[in-house]
Amino acid sequence: MAALRYAGLDDTDSEDELPPGWEERTTKDGWVYYANHTEEKTQWEHPKTGKRRRVAGDLPYGWEQETDENGQVFFVDHINKRTTYLDPRLAFTVDDNPTKPTTRQRYDGSTTAMEILQGRDFTGRVVLVTGANSGIGFETAKSFALHGAHVILACRNMSRASEAVSRILEEWHKAKVEAMTLDLAVLRSVQHFAEAFKAKNMSLHVLVCNAGTFALPWTLTKDGLETTFQVNHLGHFYLVQLLQDVLCRSAPARVVVVSSESHRFTDINDSSGKLDLSRLSPSQSDYWAMLAYNRSKLCNLLFSNELHRRLSPRGVTSNAVHPGNMMYSSIHRNSWVYMLLFTLARPFTKSMDQEKQSVKSQGWLHPSNSQINGRHSVHLFAKLLFPPR
Ligand SMILES: NC(=O)c1ccc[n+]([C@@H]2O[C@H](COP(=O)([O-])OP(=O)(O)OC[C@H]3O[C@@H](n4cnc5c(N)ncnc54)[C@H](OP(=O)(O)O)[C@@H]3O)[C@@H](O)[C@H]2O)c1
Repeated sequence: MAALRYAGLDDTDSEDELPPGWEERTTKDGWVYYANHTEEKTQWEHPKTGKRRRVAGDLPYGWEQETDENGQVFFVDHINKRTTYLDPRLAFTVDDNPTKPTTRQRYDGSTTAMEILQGRDFTGRVVLVTGANSGIGFETAKSFALHGAHVILACRNMSRASEAVSRILEEWHKAKVEAMTLDLAVLRSVQHFAEAFKAKNMSLHVLVCNAGTFALPWTLTKDGLETTFQVNHLGHFYLVQLLQDVLCRSAPARVVVVSSESHRFTDINDSSGKLDLSRLSPSQSDYWAMLAYNRSKLCNLLFSNELHRRLSPRGVTSNAVHPGNMMYSSIHRNSWVYMLLFTLARPFTKSMDQEKQSVKSQGWLHPSNSQINGRHSVHLFAKLLFPPR
């Protein structure tokens, strides 16, 4: 049997051993199927036992699941630097109830964060969420805290942050939550935050770069940069640089960058196709709020991909995620037009409860909805937040 052979246990006469010409593979969702190379056919049932099976648990440390251009799932072992079509968990499959629909994915847009986190215990994990006093950040922080993690709410306004901490403690008085000051519009504040965090000598297992601003009129920060660009991208970029050593020390760890599908509607190249960095922090005359937001979200995506490339060999993964469209948070507060649009869209969009699953589940594992980022997907949000166990 291929899986056992892979695990170095090929000398077996188990009833699960496949007849010659058969091979077992897995789908993206972890279902096992069987391919017969002689007859060129596939089936869900084991050719000998008739059982349907699926893989159990997370991938081993250092492994990652990818999908090739033909939609075929393959696995990358970053530690030993090899690639295989065999799921390393195939040696440990479990029977599945055949009456269960095999096409349904485990999580979808209506799944709530609590459903995703059911049975998870994050005791001993340290999670840092930026912009955690409201919206997606608050729900994310709360869900982790209610599942045992030590959660730090990194917010620019301490009274709003303390109120958020109290709201979480009201739900569970034993929750380990604390607020710290972080204003992403001030690079000095980011630096102070990182110093204060490091002074605590804590690990950092999950860093959620969530804080964001949208539809702002043109303003410059104290650092002389356009505000949307600095808050949404550059401040987070700097934060991750400053905390990189802590993340690496805490590996396995992960960074989750809350981006947006709207990254598609812009680019940062000029008309000749060359990278035009002046577009990132434009002057007032070249400024359009929507475009500035989209560009900052494109930066989120590119940053996350590059971070992943650089840090994953050291056990720190990074994924960008689109949490859902037009969810009713306070993101629209800077413009009455968007306030109206978000209000009208509210009955048809995801609730905060459903959204935060995106930040948490490994919906973060369906194929890309972006040509730029092979890891960017609504349903991946939730899974991305699960620290590897
Ligand atoms: N809602 C959606 O439909 C949607 C769609 C796609 C992507 N997203 C992304 O999701 C993320 C969260 O947005 P949300 O919808 O939850 O909006 P939200 O409720 O407005 O939350 C944004 C958070 O960011 C914080 N923040 C803003 N400026 C900051 C700064 N200078 N320093 C530190 N924190 C700052 C806010 O703090 P204050 O309360 O102090 O302002 C707030 O806690 C954003 O990155 C957004 O781009 C949202």
